[in-house]
Amino acid sequence: MKKSDVVNTIFHNDIPHIPQREKGLAFAPTNIALCKYWGKRDTELHLPVTSSLSIALPDKGTMTTLRLHDQPIDHVVVNDQALSPESAFVKRLVEFLDLFRPEKKWYVQIDIHINIPIAAGLASSASGFASLVLALNNLFGWELSHHYLSILARLGSGSAARSFWLGFVEWHAGVQPDGMDSYAEPLDIEWPQLCVGLLTIDASEKIISSREAMQHTVNSSVLYGNWPKKVIQDLAIIKQALKVKNFPLLGGTAESNALTMHATMLSSWPPICYFLPETIAAMHRIWALRRDKLELYFTEDAGPNLKLLFLKEDFDHVSAQFPRMEKVSVFDS
Ligand code: PMV
Repeated sequence: MKKSDVVNTIFHNDIPHIPQREKGLAFAPTNIALCKYWGKRDTELHLPVTSSLSIALPDKGTMTTLRLHDQPIDHVVVNDQALSPESAFVKRLVEFLDLFRPEKKWYVQIDIHINIPIAAGLASSASGFASLVLALNNLFGWELSHHYLSILARLGSGSAARSFWLGFVEWHAGVQPDGMDSYAEPLDIEWPQLCVGLLTIDASEKIISSREAMQHTVNSSVLYGNWPKKVIQDLAIIKQALKVKNFPLLGGTAESNALTMHATMLSSWPPICYFLPETIAAMHRIWALRRDKLELYFTEDAGPNLKLLFLKEDFDHVSAQFPRMEKVSVFDS
């Protein structure tokens, strides 16, 4: 099945192409997975092997503005810098837009404002594709629910399926070949004491994309076979920890989940290692602080940067240890 088949199913073969307003505009927050998505059961539709669970960062993400124009080419501007049509970034966007314009009836000026480093393992593509889909929905008056927008954004980047809500979000792996049961939805849980801190170690673009790294891991890691079992366990524990607000259980399970994901990458061949020496040094600091009874945990995505997890009451202590850490709001914390 192709991406275009999914689009046609959602629009009943009639994709609206008449703009309903002068511009389409939308913001989507980035999200950090506490239980990771790593590996696809369908590489075309970005259908995951496992379900996953994330927390949104309301103030971090992407604002996308779309305006139709007359030239037969899309113009992409990121943080006020025009990008070359030949860049991989623009090509990926154009390929995605083409899903919604089989007859090439329209072209756009795309203005993207993103307040997190791009392609550095800080989930920029998640907020990027979610905000693009929301902006298209706004421009063409699709009036699709977040359920369908989540499915459409997944076709751009898997983790984008989770970027439509604030708070905790679960993306269901689903079992159907067309992926119509692989969508995200919010969990009805708030945790105002929970804090996330960004420890940016290197904001430059990663050497291997998460898409490539994921597939390479599935194909060559001897440990990958154990990953789905680990996720099933971790997901259940994390949901329970959220329900009863057990922070050590949440932090420990999220950290172990991230480390296991990285272990699958290390065991692939040729190996993939996103850790930098400073990443490992920070991990050792965190473990030492935990031995001294500070409830501090981390998670790490496809990049060298860490996201620290701690409770509001420990903020002063954590920020004294990691002065470069940027505390990001989660529930207005
Ligand atoms: O959506 P992608 O293809 O950028 O993959 C995201 C993968 C991780 O960030 C490492 C994990 C996750 O669940 O977000």
